[in-house]
Amino acid sequence: MKKSTGSSLSVDILLRKNTVKRVAILASGAGSNAANILSYFKGSDKMEVVLIASNRSDAGVLDIAARHAIPTQLITKENFRLSNDFIDELKALKVDLIVLAGFLWKVPAAMVQHFPQRIINIHPSLLPKYGGKGMYGHFVHDAVFAAGETESGITIHYVNEQYDEGAIVAQHKVSIASDDDAHAIEMKVRALEMEWFPKVIESLL
Ligand code: GAR
Repeated sequence: MKKSTGSSLSVDILLRKNTVKRVAILASGAGSNAANILSYFKGSDKMEVVLIASNRSDAGVLDIAARHAIPTQLITKENFRLSNDFIDELKALKVDLIVLAGFLWKVPAAMVQHFPQRIINIHPSLLPKYGGKGMYGHFVHDAVFAAGETESGITIHYVNEQYDEGAIVAQHKVSIASDDDAHAIEMKVRALEMEWFPKVIESLL
């Protein structure tokens, strides 16, 4: 029997729905990367951000989530490190990819094991340089400046049990001019983040 237009349309929507990747963003700060990812994928049929989670109740990224009507979750020691509650929530949401966008807590081993090659992080330096505990945000750019580097950049990598050590997915570089201070370096690196992070995410969907 010939399908009615109504049912073939719903099959179509169902099929398309099945290919839309479900993404969770974890962030600790202002959320400029999260905002940029949301604007890049606005109206996209490739991915949907189904959760924005933060370990800080005052993080700007939660305001961004509210503006986009995206569900949020506060990450605590209890649900993140001392139990599998957060993992269970991600599984219940059928999350395909977890994106760390300025997320400053170490990801517990249990979470890495539950989502192998499905958690990525952006780091504002050319790893393995200037990574590891305590190396985040402006501390990275201060260190790059103090060392007199002539280039810096971004690294997008899979997350493993160690800070900033998982397999590298992509790196992009920028030159540092002799009169660039740490702030100027940060601005150049942030421009790379805005340009490349969504594109790299897209390449992984
Ligand atoms: C970004 O520069 C990101 O690369 C960095 O934190 C900033 C978050 O900014 N991440 C790290 O340093 C991770 N070690 P945002 O909240 O405005 O996106």
